[in-house]
Amino acid sequence: MSNSQISALVDRFAVTHKKVSLPSLWAPESLRIKELEEGVSTLRSSVICAFNQLLDLKDLNTGVHSTRLAEWGMRVGQELGLEEQELQNLEVAALLHDIGKMGIPDSILRKPAKLDPEEYALMKKHPEYGWAVLRMLPGFERAALDILHHHENFDGTGYPAGLKSSEIPIVSRIVSVIDAFDAMVSSRPYRTGLPFEEAVRRLTVAAGTQFDPVVVKCFLTFAQAEMPTVFAAAGTSVASAL
Ligand SMILES: [Fe+2]
Repeated sequence: MSNSQISALVDRFAVTHKKVSLPSLWAPESLRIKELEEGVSTLRSSVICAFNQLLDLKDLNTGVHSTRLAEWGMRVGQELGLEEQELQNLEVAALLHDIGKMGIPDSILRKPAKLDPEEYALMKKHPEYGWAVLRMLPGFERAALDILHHHENFDGTGYPAGLKSSEIPIVSRIVSVIDAFDAMVSSRPYRTGLPFEEAVRRLTVAAGTQFDPVVVKCFLTFAQAEMPTVFAAAGTSVASAL
């Protein structure tokens, strides 16, 4: 065998060798850890995506609303100095906080009138249902707890546990504020969303009772600075543009 033939063989081995991903086995530890982390991250995103699609199938979610909630949540979380892991949990909780509504009958979810006490009691189960599902997924245990407490009130009058102030996870306190604001300004088939200014007033009034006042202040600081401009530029009112 000539030198050039040997050289070609070595080159071909190198290429084949790369394709069968032997480098994964031989790669330095740090590279393999990075590959594993990327794999976990991809899996995590896929799970979030799949659950979001389930919510869409049940018409419990609209892509724009859930994305907006996640964006607002991340802004508040970053302003409040949450650590990277907490921010990741916040993103999951903002996107999937109502996943437990999958377990609530449509007759209750879509009732165009006020729920009776029995129906309301069942509706209040959705944080527990969401927790029960998400806690089964490795890596989602903490976000599941944050979802469990997203209807707690700052003064201890919420559900399911009646936690108050700092007993309520910070991620749950953030989701509570942005979810309530989003619900107030969004139009539904059976009602028109509140004007932006009225939603701001209601959040402010409920700061310290229903909501964490620090979270409300942080959210309103950027909401009031940015939203009216965005909607004015769109040539529409804040409420109808949301
Ligand atoms: Fe909820």
